[in-house]
Amino acid sequence: MKPLHFLIGAIFCLFSLIACQKDLPNPPESYGIIPQPLKMEMADGKFIISSKTRLLMADDSLTPLVEFFAGRINQVSGLHLIPETGLSKRSQTISWVIVSDSLLGNEGYRFSASSKKILMEANTTRGLFYAMQTLFQLLPAEIYGGSISDTIQWSVPAVTITDVPRFGYRGLHLDVCRHFMPLDFVKKYIDLMSMQKMNVFHWHLTDDQGWRIEIKKYPRLTEVGSQRKETVVGHAGRSKEYDGIPHGGFYTQEEIKEMVAYAKARFVTIIPEIEMPGHALAALASYPELGCTGGPYEVCPTFGIFEDVFCAGKEETFTFFEDVLTEVMALFPGEYIHIGGDECPKVRWERCPRCQARMKTMGLKDEMELQSYFVQRIEKFLNSKGRRIIGWDEILEGGLAPNATVMSWRGEEGGIAAAQSGHDAIMTPGEYCYLDKYQGDPATEPLTIGGMLSLEKIYSYEPIPKNLDSAYSGHILGAQGNVWTEYMINPERVEYMAYPRANALAEILWSSTENRNWDSYHSRLQKQFNRWEQMNVHFARK
Ligand code: ACM
Ligand code: ZN
Repeated sequence: MKPLHFLIGAIFCLFSLIACQKDLPNPPESYGIIPQPLKMEMADGKFIISSKTRLLMADDSLTPLVEFFAGRINQVSGLHLIPETGLSKRSQTISWVIVSDSLLGNEGYRFSASSKKILMEANTTRGLFYAMQTLFQLLPAEIYGGSISDTIQWSVPAVTITDVPRFGYRGLHLDVCRHFMPLDFVKKYIDLMSMQKMNVFHWHLTDDQGWRIEIKKYPRLTEVGSQRKETVVGHAGRSKEYDGIPHGGFYTQEEIKEMVAYAKARFVTIIPEIEMPGHALAALASYPELGCTGGPYEVCPTFGIFEDVFCAGKEETFTFFEDVLTEVMALFPGEYIHIGGDECPKVRWERCPRCQARMKTMGLKDEMELQSYFVQRIEKFLNSKGRRIIGWDEILEGGLAPNATVMSWRGEEGGIAAAQSGHDAIMTPGEYCYLDKYQGDPATEPLTIGGMLSLEKIYSYEPIPKNLDSAYSGHILGAQGNVWTEYMINPERVEYMAYPRANALAEILWSSTENRNWDSYHSRLQKQFNRWEQMNVHFARK
């Protein structure tokens, strides 16, 4: 090739490259939305929020939602935008509209932004709430902040989105027994969940190390059961040293009501867990007559699995749980109550005359069946009040309660067995969903219970088990991340362990399998870090 031809060719190439680049839409990563929406078309231009912007809603029922948005804008910009009822084709509007579109289901939405307006449409207020979460993510990260930023332009890039979740159950759990977490932090936990479109909060409220929910009929549960005299120092599996520092706390019924309302406004259902028949020491320390031996018992200062459990032979045990659950149901309106069921040693039952007598009169062949009797009796009670139970996968042993949903934690087998027998299941296998494991080199990470779950590994999780026949896959409602707090001594540590891993799980549960892409996720996550920084989240930078 002659030098001149080469030069002309090179210039031509350069120009076409520049022209092409201009026409190329922004990649989805640049918008940084997590979870990745189902369909997204980027366009040129942007919508700028100013004092002229009007907030329009199709009807009054959307007022709380639109006020939520107006409140956030006000907090960071000082702008006072007043929600108005009615619609307008005029420009400078942000509109929330309920439509009827079978494609969107109960949770999906459509979102469009142009230089003239923003329009959000969904079949439900819930869908519009998720559209609003997308809108927040399209705004500068400072929208999540706590103070006015004068220098920021509140603009939204032009885009058209259609979005529907893959799974209906998108859960996150929090153990507040091993370490008590203040109410304000639990609210923040809900905020963080809802910004990534998660919708179920599993609140683990009772365990050996503390009873955390006020029950009016049994005041000693919180007077005695919410306090432990000290806590093991270091790893419970290796240490016999204690800190000598009392640890305690509980939520009053008024506070629980406040939490339930707070979560409801963010479209998060709370599933309370009242653990039985194991993990009982805090309750037994309060009411020793509920154990097989009568005690004495102590609110447990260390972590593990303990032999003293609720006596399955005494009628008082069932009266106790019916009373407790009656108060629990009055506080939590959701359909599900989690009854625990995990890690219940049977040694006390084997030696307890009352437990043995129960087995005999009921024709139960072993203690596994006695546990099944226990769970089924509680299920019957809750079903009679219109509620349903969830239990850890041990509830499969000795015969599954007829209407129970199984939370599969010791691998996928429990979930598979439940689904194959026509029961619903929620996947929380330890290998992929336990956010109490290490997320990096143990030499440089704070102490954890052990094991390893990297961000990349949780992102690779597929909730539908490979060896489950597709005919049953509809029984897999979704999955959940579990946050056990033995080694999470305060809210900061919980945030560090939960984030970003719970965020990766949120994408797994919401986004379509086709849209799952680690490089894209990791790139979008860098934007998410900016949002969490605005919210003072102590996440682990990955
Ligand atoms: C569990 O992790 N013990 C359910
Ligand atoms: Zn007993």
